[in-house]
Amino acid sequence: MKSEVGTSLCRKQSLIEDARKEKEVSELSETDPTSVTYNHPDDSSSTLNLIFTIRNMSTSPFSTSLKILEKHGTILYHIETRPAGNCKKKGEELDCFVKCFIHNSSICSLLSALKKIAGDVKVVKELTSPSFPKKVQDLDVCQNVNVKFEPNFDKDHPGFGDQEYKKRRAYFAELAFKYKDGNVIPRIEYTTEETATWRQVYRSLSTLYPKYACKQYLDTFHQLEEYCGYTENSIPQLQDVSNFLKERTGFKLRPAAGLLSARDFLACLAFRVFPSTQYLRHPSAVMHSPEPDCCHELLGHIPMLADKEFAQFSQDIGLASLGASDEDIEKLSTLYWFTIEFGLCKQNGSIKAYGAGLLSSYGELLYALSKKPELKPFDPEVTAIQPYQDNSFQPVYFVSESFEDSKAKLRQYAVKMKKPFCLRYNPITCSVEILDSFQKVRTALCQIKDELGSLCSVLDRMY
Ligand SMILES: [Fe+2]
Repeated sequence: MKSEVGTSLCRKQSLIEDARKEKEVSELSETDPTSVTYNHPDDSSSTLNLIFTIRNMSTSPFSTSLKILEKHGTILYHIETRPAGNCKKKGEELDCFVKCFIHNSSICSLLSALKKIAGDVKVVKELTSPSFPKKVQDLDVCQNVNVKFEPNFDKDHPGFGDQEYKKRRAYFAELAFKYKDGNVIPRIEYTTEETATWRQVYRSLSTLYPKYACKQYLDTFHQLEEYCGYTENSIPQLQDVSNFLKERTGFKLRPAAGLLSARDFLACLAFRVFPSTQYLRHPSAVMHSPEPDCCHELLGHIPMLADKEFAQFSQDIGLASLGASDEDIEKLSTLYWFTIEFGLCKQNGSIKAYGAGLLSSYGELLYALSKKPELKPFDPEVTAIQPYQDNSFQPVYFVSESFEDSKAKLRQYAVKMKKPFCLRYNPITCSVEILDSFQKVRTALCQIKDELGSLCSVLDRMY
């Protein structure tokens, strides 16, 4: 999500940093034992999940633990026991799981009492998943913007002291926040100054593309010039570009007020929606923007989104993010960073760029393909934990064998992620279905079987 045209090494705003912050907040809250209870609407009582180990069964500590629970006014929902896993003499130790309803003021006292007669007393979290959008219209409320690097909040932003620029940005932000799925994206009458910024960026980058961009990028770029008004003299309108993408891969654009939170941004990809800014970077810093702007979106991202394999890869990262833990969101953001933003690929015996952060950055595009940085083969397990650079060029870039290969590897990685459900995207209704029952899986399989049958019949007729 970084946008840089020149060679200057400035801060870049990334999804990874945002995801990491969200994870830290979540981890902090877990240091408080009462934070893993589930408060009821009146906030005075909670549902508590407890695990403890009872030792020396001959002294009846199990019945004592039940008395302790009763004494603290708990209402038992569920109790389960099993021989302790690490006990050599079976029957001497018992692991207990208790789910109960309790007044908040009694939680600490209950835990202290249990610790006197049992070992390893723990309050545990249920395996739950963060809520996530189920249909494309739900994205209307997934537009949380990280404002840390905006001109109103960041004193280092080139537009920080420019009231006119801030006013213009407020106009774009209002358009984005008012936008609802299905609306026509407002057409912008760009100013002469904004068009001049676009021209400078367009001119400098388009000279590099023939040598450094991958074939898929170049093919689409020429089409964008032909059908969507990609010229150095005018800034393409998002609605025109969205129509173009929709015809090719089903992706569509929606205006964004700035860089979205990692979870919201990745969720949009799951529905083949790409959040795109409409504003231009500040004219005093044409060669670098700390935030994504429409130069970065239109020149970096859009051409690749018209490629079918790349579009599927992008959607797969998004689908993997739905309901994922904060830790997995950070890993998926890192995967996004080293592929969709800074990815390289093999093509006819040479290495080409397909990442938007590279294709919208004159300096880093040259650097990434200069043989100076280390190149590694794309492997999701390795890529997902690779430290990244947000204040200089990347020390490492990952090279895809092909988008098809990267897509297959990403799917294998996503299957291993811990989620209590599987999802299936329905392109007809633009919604995701949770496959949590035998019947749902069976119905999905029948649909695929029907489609496979039709395709096999077509194949038979050909030969
Ligand atoms: Fe980006």
